[in-house]
Amino acid sequence: MVDFKQEIAELLVQHIDGMSAGEIAALVEIPADKSRGDYAFPCFKLAKIMRKAPPLIAAELAEKIRGSELFEKVEPVNAFLNMFINKEHFISACLKEVLSEKERFGSSDLGEGQTVIVEYSSPNIAKPFHIGHIRTTVIGNALYKIFDFLGYKVVRINHLGDYGTQFGKMIAAYRHWGSREEVEADPIKTLLAYYVRFHDEAKNDPALDEEARQAFAALERGDAPETELWQWIRDESLKEFRRVYDMLDIDFDSWAGESFYSDKMPAVIEELKDKGLLTESRGAQIVDLEPYGLTPAIITKSDGTSIYLTRDLAAAIYRKKTYDFSKCIYVVASQQDLHFKQLFKVLELMGFEWAKDMVHVNFGMVSLPEGTLSTRAGRVVFLEDVLNTAVEKTREIVLEKGVNAELIDETAKTVGIGAVVFNELSASRIKDYTFKWEEVLNFDGETGPYVQYTHARCASVLRNAAEKYGDSISFEGADLSVLTSPAAYELVKEIYEFPAIVKEAALKYEPSVITRHIIDVAQGYNKFYHDEHILVDGAAERKAKLLLTAASKETIRNGLALLGIKAPERM
Ligand code: ARG
Repeated sequence: MVDFKQEIAELLVQHIDGMSAGEIAALVEIPADKSRGDYAFPCFKLAKIMRKAPPLIAAELAEKIRGSELFEKVEPVNAFLNMFINKEHFISACLKEVLSEKERFGSSDLGEGQTVIVEYSSPNIAKPFHIGHIRTTVIGNALYKIFDFLGYKVVRINHLGDYGTQFGKMIAAYRHWGSREEVEADPIKTLLAYYVRFHDEAKNDPALDEEARQAFAALERGDAPETELWQWIRDESLKEFRRVYDMLDIDFDSWAGESFYSDKMPAVIEELKDKGLLTESRGAQIVDLEPYGLTPAIITKSDGTSIYLTRDLAAAIYRKKTYDFSKCIYVVASQQDLHFKQLFKVLELMGFEWAKDMVHVNFGMVSLPEGTLSTRAGRVVFLEDVLNTAVEKTREIVLEKGVNAELIDETAKTVGIGAVVFNELSASRIKDYTFKWEEVLNFDGETGPYVQYTHARCASVLRNAAEKYGDSISFEGADLSVLTSPAAYELVKEIYEFPAIVKEAALKYEPSVITRHIIDVAQGYNKFYHDEHILVDGAAERKAKLLLTAASKETIRNGLALLGIKAPERM
């Protein structure tokens, strides 16, 4: 995209001694008060170099750059050089870029040659994949798409919770009360029921705990019966998880979960020992992190079993060796802030300089308003049920609105699921929020359905133009000056911002930056649509307005795609 700050700097540098174009570009401001121009250059810093009063410098520079086609007006005001961009030049540059880049508009090769790992979702086997998992799942997927769009090679990892002493309990429980058919019919609910029963009965029957310990020990040794049972439980759970991933159109490059690192831990423990980092504390092996204001990192428990943190150490080292990442991103709830601080600190103490490339992308909690989603107090709300409900509710809404009957299934799915994902990515991730259907599915609010609807509206305007006038999208014969009207021009400016917005989202690991922006673009388009008649008879005017419609559509589509949401052509 034309970078106006850069262009301005290149123009000014010809008339300024002692400053590089880069230094000048860094000084160029975008005034909040539009009457001061689109860009302003403060001349204070130059006063020293040029030995002149800033207002005088501003006046002289204004004289020199006034003739450039870049500007409509250049005004020295006190120490500032205020520049008003030539609107038509700007509109033309912006629309040409969008319409030639299309689905690549906003992309870049910034990350070329660098690998980024995004670890997300990571549910626990044989446990519900519930509403709480939605955040890591969709934030992670969006980050994958954003980094991919910026030219990074991205490796998507699902670090499944498929290891630990609880699997000993699960195996013991299954052996007592389990039935294969029952599990296969409804894997997670059934396995969870066994697990709950195990805990109830173990209170009065300590022999059960002993059985569980032995089953886990057998699993760790790799004994066949336990390993097969565990593998089957994992497979059945995954089938259920995959149904949800398919609904969300989400996938992974690696499903290496915690169990994958079980044989890689002894080497890590050895290395910690060699580096003199381990100390004993009440039978456990720990890394003392007190000097860093953190509680100790427990590496092995007093019974010798390893824990979550140890597996994460092994995973990080393995990933560095295998993928040579330039960043390893963990999308995990802020409840685990301490865990990741400990993990990163231990890696640093082990002397890995790449410890600085580890990023914990944390987020707040989702809660539900009383009674709406949880049918019984305390019952877990399965993510799959939420997605299905979203599709059903959307079906009712669009039926009422009188949607094309053939499209009903498709629309209900695209809009229903899109609405849930969009809602999830609307607020900054660190905020806790309450999931409310009235907000998620509001077609007029700042929601997924609203943005998708705007996309379909753009598509429909373009279809109508083609039918009625035989128009195709072309700059030939288009009079771009009509797009200098306030509604059109504001919209062009929003579109122009999109590539910078994508970069900002990556820099902050914050997909909501994109969500907020495409809401602005959609609102901008709707204002333009209502303020101005688009399909006018005058071809030069109509063609210009269609160019802007097409560019709005591309921008919304690309933004939605980065969030993992489809953009319907019709609704
Ligand atoms: N399975 C864990 C949980 O559900 C999340 C795993 C996060 N990733 C990690 N590398 N520790 O809480």
